[in-house]
Amino acid sequence: MVTQAEITTMSDKGSTRVLFNEDNLSEEVRAVLGEITACIGGSNAQTLEEAGSDENSHIHLNLDQGEASDLYDRLQNHFQSEDQGPSFSEIREIQGAIPQAPDRLVNVEKADACKVHPSDSGRDDDGNKLGIQSDSVNLIVTSPPYWQLRDYGMENQLGQEDSPEEYVEKIVNALDQWEDFLHPQGSIFLNIGDKYKNKSLVGIPGMFAERARKSRWTIRNQIIWSKDNGIPSPAKDRLVPRHEHIFHLVPKDDYYYDLFGYSQAFGNGSNPGDVWNIDHDQNTGDHLAPFPRELVFRAVTLACPPAICPDCGTPHTRQIERPLKNLNPDRPQAQRALEKYDNSKLNKDHLRAIRAVGISDAGKAKEIQDATGGNDDEIQELADEAKEVLGGYFREFTFPLPKTASWSGCDCDANPVPGLVFDPFAGSGTTINAAYSLGYQAWGTDLDRTNFELKLDHFTD
Ligand SMILES: C[S@@+](CC[C@H](N)C(=O)[O-])C[C@H]1O[C@@H](n2cnc3c(N)ncnc32)[C@H](O)[C@@H]1O
Repeated sequence: MVTQAEITTMSDKGSTRVLFNEDNLSEEVRAVLGEITACIGGSNAQTLEEAGSDENSHIHLNLDQGEASDLYDRLQNHFQSEDQGPSFSEIREIQGAIPQAPDRLVNVEKADACKVHPSDSGRDDDGNKLGIQSDSVNLIVTSPPYWQLRDYGMENQLGQEDSPEEYVEKIVNALDQWEDFLHPQGSIFLNIGDKYKNKSLVGIPGMFAERARKSRWTIRNQIIWSKDNGIPSPAKDRLVPRHEHIFHLVPKDDYYYDLFGYSQAFGNGSNPGDVWNIDHDQNTGDHLAPFPRELVFRAVTLACPPAICPDCGTPHTRQIERPLKNLNPDRPQAQRALEKYDNSKLNKDHLRAIRAVGISDAGKAKEIQDATGGNDDEIQELADEAKEVLGGYFREFTFPLPKTASWSGCDCDANPVPGLVFDPFAGSGTTINAAYSLGYQAWGTDLDRTNFELKLDHFTD
């Protein structure tokens, strides 16, 4: 079992620099090291297999500068994103229903995101038709260029408009076009920032929200993406901006949403709130302004069904149950309550009665209401009996933890496929790579597709 790794590289002057040193390697890191040793042929490195035969062995790789810094970046990224949020495997476990689909869609097309149509649209301007169909997209996660921030040097690029009104107008018109791609239960997560002009903030997020509402989009959340790192500012008379806005927009009220899965993956409590603290990933390559992977993980966990019916498009939804004895293992009181119950003659009817009666004192029978408007005498009697045996611990059984019972879909007789994520301003492909690595289908467009590279995340298992 390899427990330690140290990656060193020779500098030009011949001295050795330690790039990475870690004890107690995780499975994922060991997998990466195995991959790297295989890649460099093992001639100047002890392979993992050799190292693996020795308890507490220490793996030492002599890599050239390029290989070493690539590995270093990947490991750094890995640890950073692990610190920030759940790992791939944790998210996958929570999204357990992502079906295997060998011919999953994945691509980024060169196209103007403001003029795109589904492949099956009746329009004859073929140049703008994408390889995906109407109603097929479950989630759009995207970050259009900010207004007058960066010139990408391309014809038809967004963000160079003379006024913020014109800019916002173009984005909302684009949203209206994307609606053709969106499944009726689909969602959009759109990242937008503000801008200073003549010393004042322009207020672009507010302008966007107002314009989107006018176009009949429902704004479900205006998430604050806060970050501790960012571009330094020379300003001496104001604070440096360390937040941006992410709008969650839906065309219809009945949208797919998995708050339970999201809370398990990212939250503390049943509804973790609308502030996302996510630092920029370290290794952002050459592309300007990519957003962090975790932002994509959060959006897909919340609003992209892991499985959909390929025939009718219905998303599979999580069904939650609260088993009577599913108490929080972190609460010593809950464990004691279970012990008391297991050692007693009480049965599940007693637990059901406790649930019906609720947290209020079981002795105050008639004041207590259940969902039907009142607890009948029998239920009250059972609850009283249980209280007699469990004492104060009976309260623990009033709030058993919810858990996933199953995922339910439609009645079609078809094997489900993974949900489809779309990023019309794909850039370096953060959305595409993060979603595809998790097992989803992913599609994108960008006027300049040269920054995109399909990179399956190396830390997937
Ligand atoms: C802020 S970046 C997106 C970064 C991306 N989220 C990532 O993680 O790499 C905006 C992207 O929009 C592209 N772009 C600008 N105008 C466009 C347009 N009209 N249609 C499609 N892409 C456009 C730019 O080439 C750039 O890659």
